[in-house]
Amino acid sequence: MKNFINVGLLGAGTVGGGVIKVLEKNAADIEKKVGKPIRITKVLDRNVEKRRAEYGDQYIFTNNIDDILNDPDIDIVVELLGREHPAKEYIVAAFEKGKNVVTANKDVIAHYGEGIYSLAEQKGLDFMFEASVCGGIPIIEPLKTSMAGNQIHSVMGIVNGTTNYMLSKMSNEHLDYDEVLKEAQAKGYAESDPTADVGGLDAARKVVILASIAFNTRISLKDVLVEGIENIEACDIKYAQNLGYAVKLLGIAKNDPENGITVCVKPTMLPLTHPLAGVNGVYNAVFVNGDAIGEAMFLGMGAGRLPTASSVVGDIIEIARDIQSGSTGRISCTCFKEKKLCPPEKMSAPAYIRLQVLDQPGALAAIAAAFGAQNVSLRNVIQQNAAKGQKAEIVVITHSVSESNLQMALQILKVLPVVEKVSCVIRVEDSSLA
Ligand code: NDP
Ligand code: HSE
Repeated sequence: MKNFINVGLLGAGTVGGGVIKVLEKNAADIEKKVGKPIRITKVLDRNVEKRRAEYGDQYIFTNNIDDILNDPDIDIVVELLGREHPAKEYIVAAFEKGKNVVTANKDVIAHYGEGIYSLAEQKGLDFMFEASVCGGIPIIEPLKTSMAGNQIHSVMGIVNGTTNYMLSKMSNEHLDYDEVLKEAQAKGYAESDPTADVGGLDAARKVVILASIAFNTRISLKDVLVEGIENIEACDIKYAQNLGYAVKLLGIAKNDPENGITVCVKPTMLPLTHPLAGVNGVYNAVFVNGDAIGEAMFLGMGAGRLPTASSVVGDIIEIARDIQSGSTGRISCTCFKEKKLCPPEKMSAPAYIRLQVLDQPGALAAIAAAFGAQNVSLRNVIQQNAAKGQKAEIVVITHSVSESNLQMALQILKVLPVVEKVSCVIRVEDSSLA
């Protein structure tokens, strides 16, 4: 019997450094919880000298992955390098060498999760990735364990901190998109290339992981309809507020037993009374609806050194307990159901549409007719006239409309002579409009 649970850490950057700190600071209590001390023995990083100066020489730093993979004493490999490659290859190699794996890498899980899981299962090893969705918020384990007795109807979340920070700023300070993006970059929330965040891809990777676990079926990125926040203007947020809504970039996964599963990422108007509407700044939150639990919300920091390390260390502790009790591989892949996706014509929700139009007789009638022809029923219509000239802005809120009917109505609107531009379309999550 070994006296320690030994960890090989890949990457001592933001999160890896946090993991070192948390394991050092709370070592005594963690040992009592597990029944054995957990220690990091070897650390892979590119800049070995820099990391040694930062964390001291009680750790063996290396830039050769084989030093960790071929060390028979290492029980758990913790992958915190980021990017798909070579992270995925290192994870696979760690399983081949009989080591349990923790990762925070959503890119690897979203793309290669299925194959990696099969390998872990085949080897009877643990594979845990709590930090890959919403950093510090426990959501993957609760779905797999505490809520395992439920049929999950829906999982809806603010899963990207950068865009939530931007939309909150636009909402509270009435600033424009470009202005808040610059500020988010200056504060280090948004990356110099913010495309994955503002375009919704970062959220899509996370919602793929959540939907697969919640609905016990393998959802992939190509199943997700993705829309970012690039077309949202300060005025859309103002209109939303006046109508009693907040605008949030939501990852939404719904499982309708009749029609199938819908997974999307899109800017969404939520009633101000909805618990997610009050989640602001860089906070993330996931709102779950299950047949037994009812509604539950998980809220916290979706990123950051220590919050993310909290999830990684939680995974390490769970694996250490499984090692202690000889039960690694206990919770294997939970995707055992065949995938049934909802066809677009069956997806429906109310919509907010903002149009630039010519202010002339018959304009409103032509617009109403375009909607009516596609069976789109209107609930609110607001018209703001420009101070000068013959232009007006029209905002429409529809009753629930199928995705295909909405798209057809938008195509017709775009070619109407009175419509200059369809400026913005936002779906509305409001059961009172159904
Ligand atoms: P960092 O870039 O801060 O850290 C990664 C570290 O790994 C760096 O020191 C990097 O060195 C090193 N590294 C990368 N590739 C290699 C390689 N091939 N060989 C050796 N060393 C390598 O990333 P984070 O800590 O921010 O992120 C780690 C993971 O956690 C990512 O998957 C990320 O998505 C995930 N995550 C991060 C969150 C956060 O708040 N930061 C939140 C949730 C998840 P160098 O800098 O020299 O490249
Ligand atoms: N870029 C992500 C966000 C954090 O803004 O939430 C890492 O997942």
